[in-house]
Amino acid sequence: MHLLNNIPLLAAPALALSVSPRQAPSPLQTLTVNPLEKFQTIDGFGFSEAFQRAYTIYNLAEPKRSRLIDLLFNTTSGAGFSILRNGIGSSPNSSLDWMNTILPKGPASPGEKPDYVWDNNDSGQLWVSQQAVKYGVKTFYANAWAAPGFMKTNGRDSGGGALCGVPGTNCTTGDWRQAYADYLVQYIKFYQQSGVNVTHLGFLNEPDYAAPYASMLSNGAQAASFIRVLHPTLRAANLSHVHIACCEATGWNIQAKLTQELHAEGVDPLIGIITSHPYTDDIKGALPTTIPVWQTEYSDLIGKWSTEWYTTGVLGDGYTWANILHTALTSGNVTAYLWWLATQDKETNNNNNEKLILVDQGEYYVSKRFWAFAQYSRTIRPGAVRVGVATGGAGLKATAFVNADGSTVVNVINTGAEAVALSVAVTGVKAAGVSAWVTDNSNDMTAVAAATVGTDGSVGGINVPGRGLVSLVINSPTA
Ligand SMILES: *[C@@H]1O[C@H](CO)[C@@H](O)[C@H](O)[C@H]1NC(C)=O
Ligand SMILES: *[C@@H]1O[C@H](CO)[C@@H](O)[C@H](O)[C@H]1NC(C)=O
Ligand SMILES: *[C@@H]1O[C@H](CO)[C@@H](O)[C@H](O)[C@H]1NC(C)=O
Ligand SMILES: *[C@@H]1O[C@H](CO)[C@@H](O)[C@H](O)[C@H]1NC(C)=O
Ligand SMILES: *[C@@H]1O[C@H](CO)[C@@H](O)[C@H](O)[C@H]1NC(C)=O
Ligand SMILES: *[C@@H]1O[C@H](CO)[C@@H](O)[C@H](O)[C@H]1NC(C)=O
Ligand SMILES: *[C@@H]1O[C@H](CO)[C@@H](O)[C@H](O)[C@H]1NC(C)=O
Repeated sequence: MHLLNNIPLLAAPALALSVSPRQAPSPLQTLTVNPLEKFQTIDGFGFSEAFQRAYTIYNLAEPKRSRLIDLLFNTTSGAGFSILRNGIGSSPNSSLDWMNTILPKGPASPGEKPDYVWDNNDSGQLWVSQQAVKYGVKTFYANAWAAPGFMKTNGRDSGGGALCGVPGTNCTTGDWRQAYADYLVQYIKFYQQSGVNVTHLGFLNEPDYAAPYASMLSNGAQAASFIRVLHPTLRAANLSHVHIACCEATGWNIQAKLTQELHAEGVDPLIGIITSHPYTDDIKGALPTTIPVWQTEYSDLIGKWSTEWYTTGVLGDGYTWANILHTALTSGNVTAYLWWLATQDKETNNNNNEKLILVDQGEYYVSKRFWAFAQYSRTIRPGAVRVGVATGGAGLKATAFVNADGSTVVNVINTGAEAVALSVAVTGVKAAGVSAWVTDNSNDMTAVAAATVGTDGSVGGINVPGRGLVSLVINSPTA
């Protein structure tokens, strides 16, 4: 979604800042991780540089450009983002928020041979993708906002309309479903030629909203009718490993309805991931499906640019995003969580908070929202399984994961204003080592040097500051 006026603000809890000086030592709380209680398997965390935002990185002078890429993808010193969501263009040009199509000259009929054009650029997204590959990123989500205009009922790629050929359409030019499937496959082949393997493919964005930019409307039955064409087309192109994504609704409740409609159509076995945005309806629970669910786009579209960690709990605060990630991973059962745009300039959209990093006049500025994401993304690696964790008492919220390398990850949010001393035990595991990091008003994923492993194999020495976020990676003896 882009800047809209009708998005309800998250209700901000009216919390007064308490500034009482602390004399007594922090109360101790023990967290117990239960690796045998298993939940969803994580695919990763990510962002998009669609709408030409890739150029805000590409155009930075070295060494800043490399430093910014490192900050996004490095798993030792950066956020270690593991998923990139690229926009598949549908527009005649690549200016402002438009992304150019690989089929600028539309054929007159669906059967006519298409004249694809690859600019080796893709609105700057190819270059960012190639940098991600260098850092070991393996998950590339290619997502079309819409089909090119000549394939749609309204004749342009913006302003809604539907794909010609799906139920409820009757275009004089015919049925464009196969042509659209071929088009998406061709985009993946261009990326493959350029050294980037697309792993996930979406063909809609916010199909419940006729946006003034690239957009295409769809209900569940219409999406199913296209998926039945797309799935065999991928298979015939030796791309059966590419997961089909659906449907990027503006809100969790709308995606719940679409998910049920897809299920009723019997296409669940053809779908790799269910995808949704939580703009118009936030994540309150799991979607009604056994297919893995990704949250693929969210941000603060309204707040003015802020680098704060905790003010009053508004959507621009980093602390708020730690809590949002916690809820999505627990109640929401998501296997991936993607922020909207990693970078943006000062001029666009009144310098709002839809970016994690502001790029302005050759410099870049990192928000605390970025560090909230970094602590989850760097520690919880693709393939990690979420496991049970019991917090010792009120005030702490925790998630726990077992990575594919056997390490145990714990992310702890202190919802109170006072610091809490932490002890962490992993049932059945004597820790062999621990790394810990903290983000709060005065730390940006700072390593906690005092973290130690006791003789009993539990982890201690960690203070979680009031409204702070602490992440731990606990190595088991074999890891
Ligand atoms: C990531 O950062 C570490 C520490 O700064 C550095 O040693 C490593 O080379 C970086 N990785 C890549 C792929 O650049
Ligand atoms: C780019 O394409 C869009 C979508 O068709 C159009 O609205 C816009 O005027 C075009 N801009 C330029 C500079 O050609
Ligand atoms: C992509 O296009 C932009 C804008 O025309 C240009 O500045 C940039 O150099 C191009 N990049 C590549 C890799 O071709
Ligand atoms: C589709 O449109 C044509 C005219 O363009 C009309 O003859 C035909 O009956 C329509 N079919 C349906 C199913 O509406
Ligand atoms: C992409 O996939 C091809 C074919 O499976 C493989 O040979 C290649 O190494 C992969 N490239 C990357 C960068 O993962
Ligand atoms: C798919 O792979 C098979 C076996 O590797 C090969 O024979 C076939 O030509 C490939 N098809 C396409 C469309 O690339
Ligand atoms: C959570 O998602 C997984 C797939 O990632 C699914 O198998 C499981 O049924 C879901 N659990 C709930 C409670 O929805």
